[in-house]
Amino acid sequence: MKLEYYPSKYLDMACDPVEFFDEVLHKQLDEMKKIMEEHKGLGLAANQVGLNKRMFLFKDNKGIVHEVINPKIKSTNGAVSISEGCLSAPDVFVSISRPEDVGFEYQDRNGEWQNALAFGLEARAVLHEYDHLDGIFFLSKVNRQIRRAAIAKLKRQ
Ligand code: CO
Repeated sequence: MKLEYYPSKYLDMACDPVEFFDEVLHKQLDEMKKIMEEHKGLGLAANQVGLNKRMFLFKDNKGIVHEVINPKIKSTNGAVSISEGCLSAPDVFVSISRPEDVGFEYQDRNGEWQNALAFGLEARAVLHEYDHLDGIFFLSKVNRQIRRAAIAKLKRQ
């Protein structure tokens, strides 16, 4: 398992729901956490490490890493533009408008359904990672000019 960088077919992939909450899954989540920590990320979606599974990690304001499996967004509120980045696009930051807060349901690593509300940067991380699971890369949410500049910067690295 390794981090995929843009452009990668995995980043365009819409992921399939997780069906088995077994040891294989737990190992994958543990390894994802390791990769996210190594790259000092605030979030990581399964397809960013080549896994076709609807699950992601995000770090909350206290530094606790949450595992979010088969998420369903139930509510969103407000709209705010914040500069955001992605581990798959190093050193690229673009301002994107997204809801300010998000209510969502998800399964934990044991398959138990949970409810959560996220605000501020946590909401930002959840919405960004959720997009990954549908194969939506953050640079698709900015205008063409900004996207071109961002991709040119990635190519120079
Ligand atoms: Co990302």
